Amino acid sequence: MTEHLLDIRVERKTFGATTVLQNIHLQLQPREAVSLLGPSGCGKSTLLRIVAGLEKDYQGELRNRAGEVAFVFQEPRLMPWLTVEQNIGFSADNDYDKAWVAQLIEEVGLGGFAQALPKALSGGMAQRVAIARGLYSRPHVLLLDEPFSAVDAFTRMKLQDLLLQLAERHAIALLLVTHDVDEALYLSDRVLVMDNRPSSIRQELAVQLTHPRDRRDPLLAQLKALSLTELQRAHVI
Ligand SMILES: Nc1ncnc2c1ncn2[C@@H]1O[C@H](COP(=O)(O)OP(=O)(O)O)[C@@H](O)[C@H]1O
Ligand SMILES: [Mg+2]
Repeated sequence: MTEHLLDIRVERKTFGATTVLQNIHLQLQPREAVSLLGPSGCGKSTLLRIVAGLEKDYQGELRNRAGEVAFVFQEPRLMPWLTVEQNIGFSADNDYDKAWVAQLIEEVGLGGFAQALPKALSGGMAQRVAIARGLYSRPHVLLLDEPFSAVDAFTRMKLQDLLLQLAERHAIALLLVTHDVDEALYLSDRVLVMDNRPSSIRQELAVQLTHPRDRRDPLLAQLKALSLTELQRAHVI
């Protein structure tokens, strides 16, 4: 039997009288990329928070063989008074692995910006810092909650390619929430479509394409059509 990196079972998650998540069973294999697509408010962020261990009040079970799990949010959430380097190392007093931070700065394409403050960065650059900060703890799983939705379309494509490169290089599995069907299909091995509250996983689409992928691949277009049909059935669109 395959050893899952993460085995997530949420039988039920409620906020007050509202059941948000129900019967969610989700496994993540080492190095696998999985995307979650679903309507606003269906509980995608809540599910990621459960996986990250930030939300403990639910019925279910989380098995984590991944050890370190890191989170990248929609907004970069950088400390404005810390430099790029300090933000990645989480420390104002330079008490971090300088060589590793320097390597990460190069890997995310921010060479020369180690001493810059966040206000000097574009949105895309700030999100590169957030990704580097996520990698600092050498996680085996990176959780990403709509990480690229605040950047323009071309920057987004570059960040998607960067994310794939980094995941490959560091053998990291990805669990990503997005509203962008193209993004989900381009990045993922599996795309999971969630439905409205109480939400569960309605449909799973396998994207059996090797990397590097071509955004113009006709199979991606076919899978997009399928995804849109599912999203319509789930009344997401
Ligand atoms: N801390 C909270 N307290 C009460 N309700 C919450 C809390 N967090 C989220 N919710 C509610 O749970 C539902 C799912 O939220 P969320 O996980 O943020 O959805 P999504 O990320 O899919 O848009 C929403 O109706 C939201 O209002
Ligand atoms: Mg959300």
